[in-house]
Amino acid sequence: MRSLIIVLVFAALPCAQTLRAQSQDLSGTWVAKSTSPMGEMEFVYELRTDAKGKITGTQRGPFGDSPIVDGKVTGDKVELTVETESFGSLSKSTITGTIVGEELHITPAMPGGGRGRGPGGPPPGAGRGGPGFMSQHLIARRGIPTPSYRAASVNYASLPKIALPAVKDLPSNGLAKTPPMGWNSWNKFHTKIDDRTVREVADAMVSTGMKDAGYLYVNIDDGWEWKRDETGKILPNPNFPDMKALAAYVHSKGLKLGIYSSPGPTTCGGYEGSYGHEEQDAKSYADWGIDYLKYDWCSASRVWKDEDMRAAYQKMGEALRKSGRDIVYSLCQYGRANAGEWGPLAGGNLWRSTGDIRDSWQSMAQIGFSQGNTARFTRPGWWPDADMLEVGNGGMTVEEYRTHLSLWAMIGAPLIAGNDLRSMTPQIREILTNEDAIAVDQDALGKGGQRISQQGDTEVWAKPLSNGDYAVALFNRGESEADIWLKWSAIGFGAKAAVRDLWLHQSLGTVEDGFQTKVGPHGVALIRVTKQY
Ligand code: GLA
Repeated sequence: MRSLIIVLVFAALPCAQTLRAQSQDLSGTWVAKSTSPMGEMEFVYELRTDAKGKITGTQRGPFGDSPIVDGKVTGDKVELTVETESFGSLSKSTITGTIVGEELHITPAMPGGGRGRGPGGPPPGAGRGGPGFMSQHLIARRGIPTPSYRAASVNYASLPKIALPAVKDLPSNGLAKTPPMGWNSWNKFHTKIDDRTVREVADAMVSTGMKDAGYLYVNIDDGWEWKRDETGKILPNPNFPDMKALAAYVHSKGLKLGIYSSPGPTTCGGYEGSYGHEEQDAKSYADWGIDYLKYDWCSASRVWKDEDMRAAYQKMGEALRKSGRDIVYSLCQYGRANAGEWGPLAGGNLWRSTGDIRDSWQSMAQIGFSQGNTARFTRPGWWPDADMLEVGNGGMTVEEYRTHLSLWAMIGAPLIAGNDLRSMTPQIREILTNEDAIAVDQDALGKGGQRISQQGDTEVWAKPLSNGDYAVALFNRGESEADIWLKWSAIGFGAKAAVRDLWLHQSLGTVEDGFQTKVGPHGVALIRVTKQY
């Protein structure tokens, strides 16, 4: 008898377990912590299970919200289909988890993780989540997420579609005659940014000589936003208690203040976007004294197609004009939708010609050396934004950072420092404030530089300047020292030209025929060449 009972129990056990797990209703909020190169982060799963056992909801991560469009529990296994966004592309991926007692063991869906992108896009594997997050296995428990100022999750299925204006050509706003120069909080601080840090950075911009070198804009990136009041007016979160006073402070230093938003309902970091509040937000920015807006596509890709992008950017372009204040308008659309062509007509002063930069040689070089094709659009008032500088953030050598700045100057990209100006070393300060290189970037002719020759790992880029000179950069992308040559005929010059080295800050005299130099690994020789007939 006893053995019969044992047999029955063993036979019944798997079935009972399955039944228990299958009837598991995962509805509710699950919270998991992850460690990453950016510190501790939280992933939150807001799940709903319907009568048929179908799971929907939202995965809320450090890089915004991703709708969970389908899901089910089978035994102790959970399958969730998550729609992620990465630099304007939506894709679905299925993640699997295991129910272990009261825990849900799960690997979050990462935006763009592991996939390559087309030309101009970010390097393979560099989705918003980045390599540091890619395969983290997390333990989620039912609970309450850490309070944050992020927007509530959006139900895109029921989101009312706002009307976009009929496309038309806006006249130029007359701003940014040369590429904007300044600082932006994202590369160093991500969303951990506040009024005090911004003020201290403004102070440092002056005390380090950055302002004298031409850096003017102090730009707050994602993470300042909170919610809307009963009239729909956007409120900065308590980390920015008084935006108007902050602008006044920054202006008192002779600097300008920039801000960030999105044409979509939420920003890339999951904060409140300007969707349906464009005029109201532009007015708030003007009231506060904002001088620069970075407008980041992100969740707009869940509402519109790339074909609608021009109208969506024009909507804010018109709102900024209507605000009555001069506000530089920076389109941030990760190299998508041929914005180089139509962006100025939508009111823009800069367009993002790439995905996000990371502080590594590979990322910087992949972005920088692919920017030659922006030159056909570049002109005063309209600049290719190859993303903010990583100079001084620690992931590259000093030589690589020189290459970084030289490339950006050759392209005519905005020079927006992304490091902590309060604590930079003299060497980094010297790179960022190199007046000879800055003069190449800021040249009034406003022509973009381009690659004129390439041999193995070496590339020569040239950029015509307003006084008839050429800026020439001789790059070595290889791992060992290289000899690089430039014939004067390659830039249309005759037998003789005078050469100035823009990193050594010295004249190299008049040189016949051409210029030859040795360049170290990942290094550059940046010269200014004057025709000598
Ligand atoms: C996107 C942008 C970045 C930064 C973040 C903020 O990834 O491309 O430059 O603004 O969003 O969330």
